[in-house]
Formats: sequence, structure tokens, C-alpha cells
Amino acid sequence: MKIVVSARNGTRDFECDPGEKILHAGLRSGVELPYECATGTCGTCKARLVGGRAESEWPDAPGGRSLQSAAELLTCQSVARDDCTLALGTALKSRAPSAPTPRALGGVVRARRALTHDVVALQLDVDGPLDFDAGQFALVTVPGIAGARAYSMVNFDRGAERLSFVLKLKPGGAVSNWLFGDGVEGTRLGLFAPLGHATFHPDVRKHVLCIAGGSGIAGMMSILSLACREGHFGAWDGHVFFGVRTARDGFFLDELEAFRAQYPARLSVTVALSDEDVPASLPAAYPGFAFARGFVHAVAGERMKGRFADVRAYVAGPPPMVDASLRLLLREARLPPADIRYDKFS
Ligand SMILES: Cc1cc2nc3c(=O)[nH]c(=O)nc-3n(C[C@H](O)[C@H](O)[C@H](O)COP(=O)(O)OP(=O)(O)OC[C@H]3O[C@@H](n4cnc5c(N)ncnc54)[C@H](O)[C@@H]3O)c2cc1C
Ligand code: FES
Repeated sequence: MKIVVSARNGTRDFECDPGEKILHAGLRSGVELPYECATGTCGTCKARLVGGRAESEWPDAPGGRSLQSAAELLTCQSVARDDCTLALGTALKSRAPSAPTPRALGGVVRARRALTHDVVALQLDVDGPLDFDAGQFALVTVPGIAGARAYSMVNFDRGAERLSFVLKLKPGGAVSNWLFGDGVEGTRLGLFAPLGHATFHPDVRKHVLCIAGGSGIAGMMSILSLACREGHFGAWDGHVFFGVRTARDGFFLDELEAFRAQYPARLSVTVALSDEDVPASLPAAYPGFAFARGFVHAVAGERMKGRFADVRAYVAGPPPMVDASLRLLLREARLPPADIRYDKFS
């Protein structure tokens, strides 16, 4: 089926397979349809159906709250039933020539390792090499459960045949409970990847600020790995703020220490505990880190005062934490929006 999209800066068209999400068809064809979560919660992908027939596969998607009429739809949840014409209220962006093109592929769960009582690391072998940028995410589909879930890659190498993820168990969550269950290794999952705009590129000559809540550290690990490998912190500062509730919720601390130890003069790591005072065992185990009690955005705001010049910020984690960080970065730090990259783990 042919999809024609008219945007403020022109008209593009692409082919959409039966049952394929309109967003996926556009992105794999090089048409940069707008999106953020790609999973039906944010409303960023809305478009108006001007001609043809299309249906949402998740009519109750929370992102539907942003739709203003029955003619509007979420492209990340909708499939075409006919040739369609869509109108966007925004301009289509152009994809950077080096940015990888997303595609549908499969992957097999190979290994799962507990990181905390409710966080696991998961390795997935994919059908063919996948290129992605540091900070990107994949949509994961599990057999028998409706809808895709977004998970950020921890690794970053181009041509990756194995993807690493960090997964937090969501109470009552269908996919995360399934992935925490028995018999998962060896199961084949569906993927659509890579997605996401919270990417790090070493040619951007700026200080790096990472504010992560919980499993939001996943994409930051990818960014920090690449930045360290490229020697970015030889010339630019890196400020990592990692927020968890209590000491037992912390993970990847050894890995963060290994990054910090490579660039002790420029790379700092601060761990914020929101729900308890910092136990003496933490600074004893990680003397190179700073620790604080408080919400991670508040700790970052306090410690970054007067240090926001030439900073590009990356934020990921639960929506309230990301919203509070965005308020800090926009209103107090006065960073331009182009220097704020975020993923809201909705
Ligand atoms: C960009 C991004 C990156 C993320 N990265 C990570 C990460 O690295 N690690 C991590 O732990 N978490 C990450 N998350 C959060 C993670 O996606 C959620 O925790 C996960 O969706 C929970 O899934 P669940 O099935 O356990 O919960 P559920 O409550 O069952 O489902 C949650 C989500 O699934 C989708 N969904 C539910 N029902 C349907 C349906 N019928 N049809 C279609 N879609 C449906 C919706 O998006 C919904 O919000 C990320 C989120 C986003 C948006
Ligand atoms: S991108 Fe479709 S609702 Fe978020």
C-alpha cells in the first residue's frame, strides 16, 4: 500500500506492507516521520488521515489523549488497510547521512543475568549485523503479548550481532514479567531497530552531562563506552548522575568506575539515593565517586550550578524524573533544546 505524507516542508511517499505500522514503514524507507517513544504513550507521532483507511492496533493507547479528532491517528500504532494520505502538523526532518536505517529483524535471547533484585541484563543474538548509534533503543516484541516495548542498547558497536539490554521489572508489566520468567533463554523475539534521537556522536565537541534514573543508565553506558573509546574525555568533561532509590538498587557501578578511572581528571560520577541516606559502604567501595541523598535531577542541578556552558545533556529514566530534569536543563541551565537529548521510559 502506498502512503503519502504531506508535511510543512513538502510531500513524501513510501510503501507500507500489510500489518506493518505506518511509522515503521516510513522510517525504514528513509522518511523521518516524527516519533519519540514509538510505543503509543507520548503522542508525538500523531498525523491526520486525509484519505484512505487505517486502523489503530491499540485504540486505548495513552498517546491517543493528544489526538484532537477521529481523523487523527498515532502512526506508531496504526496499520494501513488501503492506500493512505496523511497530513503532519510539523515538518519532516532529514536523517543524518551516517544515521542507521531501522528495520524489522528477529533475535534470540541468549543470556540473562541478575543485576539487582528487579533488574536483569539480557543478551540477544540478532539475525544479521545491526548498525546503531550510541544511545539508541530497539522495539522488542514477545510472542503472545500485544504491542512492542522499548529497550535501550547498552553496547554500541556498528555491525553488532549481539545486543545487550538492561531490563527493569515493572510490577504487573506483561513483557518485563515474561522476560523475568523461566524458559526465556533460546526464545525468539521480534525487533524493530534502531530508533531514538538521544544519540552521542564524538564529533560534537561538547561536555557531556548524563542524568539517568534506574534502568535509564542503559543508554548512558553505550554513550560512555563510545566516548571513552574515542578519547572524548581527554578534552571535554563528563558528568554522570545516576539516581536509584537505595544502595541495593545500584548496578553497573564497577563499569562506571572503570570509565571514570580512564579519565579521572575530567569524568565524574555521582550516585544519588532518593530513599535512604548514603550508607558508609558505598563511598568505601567507590572512593572515586561522589554520593548524595536526593532525587537525581535535584542533585545534578545543585552540583552543575555554573557549569552548563558548552554542555550537551542526555537524560533517561522514569517520566517524572525526565520531566524534572528537562525543567532544570531548559529553565535553569538554559541549554538550547538541540543540546538536550532524552528518552522518557513511559
Ligand atoms: C525510548 C524508551 C527506552 C526505554 N529503555 C528501557 C531500558 O533500557 N530498560 C528498561 O528497563 N526500560 C526501558 N524503557 C521502559 C520500558 O519500555 C517499559 O518498562 C516496558 O514497556 C514495560 O513493559 P511491560 O510489558 O513490562 O509493562 P506493561 O505495563 O504491560 O506495558 C507497558 C508498555 O507496553 C506498551 N503496551 C501495553 N499494552 C499494549 C498493547 N495492547 N498494544 C501495544 N502496546 C502496548 C505500551 O507502550 C505501554 O506503555 C524504555 C522506554 C522507552 C519509551
Ligand atoms: S511515538 Fe507514537 S505515541 Fe509516542
